[in-house]
Amino acid sequence: MRVFVTGASGWIGSAVVPELIEAGHEVIGLARSGASAERIRAAGAQPHPGSLDDLESIRSGAAAADAVIHLGFKHDFDRFAESGRTERAVVQAIGDELAGSGRALLFASGLAGSPGVLFTENDPSPFSGPDAPRGGGENFAFEYADRGVRPVALRFSPTVHGMGDHGFTAQLARIARERGVAAWIGDGSSRWPAVHRSDAARLVRLALEQAPARGIVHAVGEEGIPSRAIAEALGAALELPSASIAPEDAESHFGWIGAFFGMDIVASGALTRERFGWTPTGPTLLEDIAAGAYSPVPVAG
Ligand SMILES: NC(=O)c1ccc[n+]([C@@H]2O[C@H](COP(=O)([O-])OP(=O)(O)OC[C@H]3O[C@@H](n4cnc5c(N)ncnc54)[C@H](OP(=O)(O)O)[C@@H]3O)[C@@H](O)[C@H]2O)c1
Repeated sequence: MRVFVTGASGWIGSAVVPELIEAGHEVIGLARSGASAERIRAAGAQPHPGSLDDLESIRSGAAAADAVIHLGFKHDFDRFAESGRTERAVVQAIGDELAGSGRALLFASGLAGSPGVLFTENDPSPFSGPDAPRGGGENFAFEYADRGVRPVALRFSPTVHGMGDHGFTAQLARIARERGVAAWIGDGSSRWPAVHRSDAARLVRLALEQAPARGIVHAVGEEGIPSRAIAEALGAALELPSASIAPEDAESHFGWIGAFFGMDIVASGALTRERFGWTPTGPTLLEDIAAGAYSPVPVAG
């Protein structure tokens, strides 16, 4: 397939591109700068100049492809509402372009269940409408199934980890270094699911090739790792003490990520494994932390 990938130069996208190419697909990657275009070209794909804010570039990329994988996102958490509006506009631009063609629209989403309750592939996203987190993009994209599109939600774990990660676990490591302590919140029993980047990339390809319309894919390698275990592993890797901080101090200690780190998110990937024959084989999150993935200078590959 000829696949248009937004976010092709990002953390997950730059693993998805070679995964697709090795499987015989052709990739066009949205590039908003010369540096992004260079990364996309180096991965073996063809850059498509444009931006998430330039919907014509999104439409023309989608028009030239047999399928779209939308991984681009504005990760400015101080302007989260704006990111959501962009997300919704981009989903609409792609959906309208693909309407009536039966082509696939795979899009990044997250794991958003009730705290402490196992979130499965059978559970709908609780977010709908333009003002919801991520612009309610998952339910909005699924509406396009009635308009002849094959929308598929790629629900990534909160941490898609590995060497070079700059996502949430990297933020926790940075805060630990700045504060001189790797902290967890309260009793540290809140959990985060996790997946290794290589496993996530393979799953995206399997979903492209196999998932039906309104398919929900859980990129979950581990169902829920206690925040205390994550903090203690970071403390050991960074040679810092680890300690609990009170929930009321979480925001001042962690900033915006505090509320998220304190959320008890637990999710299953069992149906995804069964449906797509997906078996995660990469290191666990704690193995990656111990191997130096979040240390200032990584010590292992
Ligand atoms: N990584 C995780 O742990 C994780 C967990 C859950 C969900 N997700 C979701 O998965 C998706 C991919 O995440 P990621 O970790 O790969 O993100 P990332 O590393 O931050 O990459 C974001 C991508 O979006 C592109 N982008 C940002 N703003 C853009 C704009 N205005 N115009 C065009 N492109 C733009 C970036 O391009 P440049 O290269 O030019 O900056 C980059 O390719 C996102 O939707 C994210 O929220 C990720």
